[in-house]
Amino acid sequence: MIGVDIEQISRFNGWTASQQKRIFSESEILYASKQKNPSEHFCGFYCVKEALTKALDNKNLTFKNIEVLHTKTNKPYINVNQEIASILNEINKTKIEISISHAGEYAIAVVQIN
Ligand SMILES: CC(C)(COP(=O)(O)OP(=O)(O)OC[C@H]1O[C@@H](n2cnc3c(N)ncnc32)[C@H](O)[C@@H]1OP(=O)(O)O)[C@@H](O)C(=O)NCCC(=O)NCCS
Repeated sequence: MIGVDIEQISRFNGWTASQQKRIFSESEILYASKQKNPSEHFCGFYCVKEALTKALDNKNLTFKNIEVLHTKTNKPYINVNQEIASILNEINKTKIEISISHAGEYAIAVVQIN
């Protein structure tokens, strides 16, 4: 199962803290806010959320509950919380892999579920 999404980075410029909190987790906000261009990272995380929706063919996911974290080497991954674990369990899958990239005006993410 695979999903992809691409979004315009400028879409995430000028968001208020309360707008950010509706869609992004605390840890995502902290990560993005520390970067040179936070919108680029918010955009990448948003793409992961959309791409996961596509991979699962499920529009009822709570975006704030789809949380992108990073390993020590900065490789991104989805935090498998209760909601995601139970979805994976239902479809008999165990692993979600993601990849994010940004260039110029756009960010893109791919999600693969095995
Ligand atoms: C990590 C690397 C691949 C990122 O590529 P980039 O073109 O600089 O940046 P991109 O916008 O395409 O990708 C950034 C995203 O890569 C992801 N990423 C970072 N480190 C990663 C890693 N170790 N593994 C997988 N993904 C990683 C992150 O999701 C990051 O976005 P985020 O911080 O918003 O989550 C790059 O910096 C790198 O290390 N390249 C290879 C090393 C090199 O330069 N070799 C030259 C040999 S001559």
